[in-house]
Amino acid sequence: MKNVAFSLTVVATLLTPWLASAQEAVKKCLACHTFDQGGAKKIGPNLFGIFGKTSTLPDLAAKGVVWDEPTLMEYLANPSAFVSAKTAGASKSKMALLVKDEAERKAAIEYLKTLK
Ligand code: HEC
Repeated sequence: MKNVAFSLTVVATLLTPWLASAQEAVKKCLACHTFDQGGAKKIGPNLFGIFGKTSTLPDLAAKGVVWDEPTLMEYLANPSAFVSAKTAGASKSKMALLVKDEAERKAAIEYLKTLK
């Protein structure tokens, strides 16, 4: 029992900084998105359960874009370039934020995975 308690403490200690950095990485998303189930659409769509799902944006859905690690890594780095590439230049993203830092993108994606 003592070992279990010890292990839990170790796991919690290891997870806390990770969670903090993930939450930090998604703070700026809240200006335009909600994360809760059934949350309102702000400037951008609600992101609950978005990981593993087909995009809710018609132009991307038409191209079969599913949000997984590779697509999100590319999209978050430069949404306009991603949408433009997928639609052969016919469409641009209305998302005006570029997450240039790779570790920050990874942390944001880890957070999106928890929204289910
Ligand atoms: C300045 C406002 C703004 C910010 C900040 C922002 N977004 Fe967006 N986001 C949008 C808009 C607007 C769209 C819809 C894009 C379009 O219509 O082309 C979008 C779309 C998305 C999509 C695609 C959703 C779908 O259904 O396909 C994802 C995923 C996403 N944003 C993730 C994020 C994450 C993660 C962050 C924070 C790191 C973030 N966004 C920050 C405005 C924003």
